[in-house]
Amino acid sequence: MKSFTLTSVAHVLVLAGLSDAFWRMECPNRSALARIDPLVSIGSAAQHVHAIHGSSGFSASSSTADLLAGQCTSCRVSEDKSAYWTPAVYFKSASTGEFTLVNQVGGMLAYYLLFTNAGEKTVTAFPPGFEMISGDTNQRNYSYPVPDAVEKSRWASTAPYNTQAFLRQAALGFNCLNYQKAPEPSLYRHFLPDKAYLDANCADGVRFELMFPSCWDGKNNAPSDKQSHVAFPDQVMTGECPKGFKTRLPSLFYETIWDTHAFSGQDGQFVISNGDPTGYGYHGDFIMGWDSDFLQKAADTCTNPSGRIEDCPLFTIQDEDAYSSCKVPSSNIPIAAAKDQLLSKLSSLPGNVQIFAGPGRAGGGSAAPSIDLPSPKKPSAPAPTSDIVPVVPTVSYKAATSASSGAYVPGGAFAEQPSSPAAAVTPAPNAASLGPSESFFSTQYATKGNTVEEVFWVEEEVTTTIFATETMTAGANKGRKRHLHKHRRAGAGH
Ligand SMILES: *[C@@H]1O[C@H](CO)[C@@H](O)[C@H](O)[C@H]1NC(C)=O
Ligand SMILES: *[C@@H]1O[C@H](CO)[C@@H](O)[C@H](O)[C@H]1NC(C)=O
Repeated sequence: MKSFTLTSVAHVLVLAGLSDAFWRMECPNRSALARIDPLVSIGSAAQHVHAIHGSSGFSASSSTADLLAGQCTSCRVSEDKSAYWTPAVYFKSASTGEFTLVNQVGGMLAYYLLFTNAGEKTVTAFPPGFEMISGDTNQRNYSYPVPDAVEKSRWASTAPYNTQAFLRQAALGFNCLNYQKAPEPSLYRHFLPDKAYLDANCADGVRFELMFPSCWDGKNNAPSDKQSHVAFPDQVMTGECPKGFKTRLPSLFYETIWDTHAFSGQDGQFVISNGDPTGYGYHGDFIMGWDSDFLQKAADTCTNPSGRIEDCPLFTIQDEDAYSSCKVPSSNIPIAAAKDQLLSKLSSLPGNVQIFAGPGRAGGGSAAPSIDLPSPKKPSAPAPTSDIVPVVPTVSYKAATSASSGAYVPGGAFAEQPSSPAAAVTPAPNAASLGPSESFFSTQYATKGNTVEEVFWVEEEVTTTIFATETMTAGANKGRKRHLHKHRRAGAGH
């Protein structure tokens, strides 16, 4: 990898082997909220509730073919019949002991980041039948420094950062949202902060972030563990693929926002629907639901760095009526899950999942019943307090605006610190003063009635004369500079 230092903007940019191209699949509405998990509990009710997005062909036994045969998708691009799902988030009141579903704000975003291997120009589309899980529902501890103590560019050469076990946990992010402040970087905090911290700091809720492995063995589409066919590149999102996993897929990154702040001031705790109050057991699932040739064409040509699905001419953008009304039919919901109470005044988590805070491994995480049994009616005895009070570290709010090296990191900002103390971020330009060659790179999400557009950087062509660099390759005659910009707000439907 090569770094350039710009004298005028003092910005560090990594180019080799990296493409900034991506698209941001918006799935503004859930297609279901249910105990369904075709990758873990095939044909039966899943252990815990999932927030589900994508094809209406989703069921407890759906495959790529079933998803493609689905009538509609809850995502905005009609060609994307994939299924995307993560656990849901609940609040447990200390005074009543009851659980309430936390409001999911703005559906979900699934980023397709088109990072290529060094020396390659394109990524390989997911093959038909491709399935994968990122994360481990039974994980309940974290044995690495908090926060990440070593800059990402040194992970590959520094134990324990150069292990898949670390990368798997570093693939989770719990982004404390406060739109009055500069955003935190993505994948900065790998655990769910406790209630007091959330109340005090995260006025706009928490964005749950999940990076999927993007390095594939090139052979297996869906091994039974849904994980052993893929691996993380050495910087979790960017970097090099390990030996045996050299086929670079689109790098999938999920974001869901949960309005934890709605419970501000109420005594209680947040818990993920799998019984995890720590966040270490957060995870997500994917089943490929594109026509594979179409996806390859999109990966090859939808490279506008804006990330906007509207900027890819291949995509058919659906009307709100179409995606927001797309639901998994109730006939696809396993009998044992069909009567679940899911929303409020729940005496237990749906499926009677017990809260377990670790640090040992959770037992029942994947022990889903193999046949449809009615869920037990009465909750079992409450676990001892020591089992349900999460012990998570405190990491203070971190603004990302002082960091600007490496690749674009979706949803947040640039995750690394500048490698030289001289590096600093150029003040955000006034949008009105931008020239015609300059463009915004943005993310967006809906919150409390507004659509928020975060603008992270602006790209413009600059000539080499403003570079002071020893590493610039001969013949390169232009570079790019990036500016971090605070998010701005726009009214709904901007
Ligand atoms: C779809 O989601 C949007 C925001 O994500 C919300 O405003 C709208 O009410 C939802 N529509 C339906 C039908 O659920
Ligand atoms: C931490 O988690 C791992 C993996 O789930 C488990 O094997 C280990 O026993 C846990 N550590 C402690 C101290 O419980």
